Amino acid sequence: MNKASACAKTILFGEHAVVYGESAIAIPLSNLRTTAEIIPNGEEFRVVSENTGMDLPYRELEPGSGIRELLTKLKDIAAFNELPSDTLHIRSKIPIASGLGSGAALSIAIIRAFSSYYNLQLTNEKINEIAFEIEKIYHGSPSGIDNTTLTYEQPLIFSKTKGSTILPADMSKFHLLVIDSGIRSKTIDVVSDVRKNYDKYKTYIHEIGELTVSAIPALESGDSSLVGFLMNENQRLLQKINVSCVELDELLRAAQNAGVPGCKLTGAGRGGNFLVLAEDKTQALRVKKIYNELGLRVYYDHSA
Ligand code: PMV
Repeated sequence: MNKASACAKTILFGEHAVVYGESAIAIPLSNLRTTAEIIPNGEEFRVVSENTGMDLPYRELEPGSGIRELLTKLKDIAAFNELPSDTLHIRSKIPIASGLGSGAALSIAIIRAFSSYYNLQLTNEKINEIAFEIEKIYHGSPSGIDNTTLTYEQPLIFSKTKGSTILPADMSKFHLLVIDSGIRSKTIDVVSDVRKNYDKYKTYIHEIGELTVSAIPALESGDSSLVGFLMNENQRLLQKINVSCVELDELLRAAQNAGVPGCKLTGAGRGGNFLVLAEDKTQALRVKKIYNELGLRVYYDHSA
């Protein structure tokens, strides 16, 4: 096999707090994927990305960039003197810098393609470990939630200190919309702003952790109104730690005015994607239409 892929993820509860050891809940978005394919070219190793327009030999990739560091790591793991005469083709449906884990998905797709094409037989544990190292370049001080959710492609309750367990919930019971605000924001900047103000924010961060734990039974029993209420509470706490923004708050108001049980930002915040939990399919379609009319892209994923 010369081809592999990895999907996007969305964080339902607990972003940012998870960096400080609190639990968070993430779910994979299996229909939004990044694909990596390796094809012989008879020349030096190249990277071609359809989305960014990149078409460069390995030696010209920017030193210190995520992709360069990842390829160097894989070259060492494979014990290659030089990367082989192949082209790595990347195609992605996941928007960049928008809270859906595009960086981790890119790493995992590439690692899996290398593992299968060059027969490296990397285990999921090793794949997760390599992707986490590269996340440090994208995030600064990542919790590991993105790479772990995407490596195992399972809804997870994730904690840096306690490890992760599979979320005991049937997400197809929920009418969850993932909507792109169109505003791009870099995870590393938002995460480092929170870190600078940690002392001021630590009570809120702990409250986010407690709220996340209380959401588990609500998710398990399929209680949309309680899950929605907790999403709204989570959003209120995210506003307190200054990771929302005026534009996002305004976009969330459109869903609130439509009477949805809950909505919140997802991922790093200050833009990116946001989540809307609708009470049923009819309401989900109505909300989808509202955002489409505002010109926003709606990833209508976990809706039965
Ligand atoms: O914006 P994303 O998709 O990279 O998600 C970041 C999640 C944070 O909790 C803000 C950071 C982390 O590493 O957990």
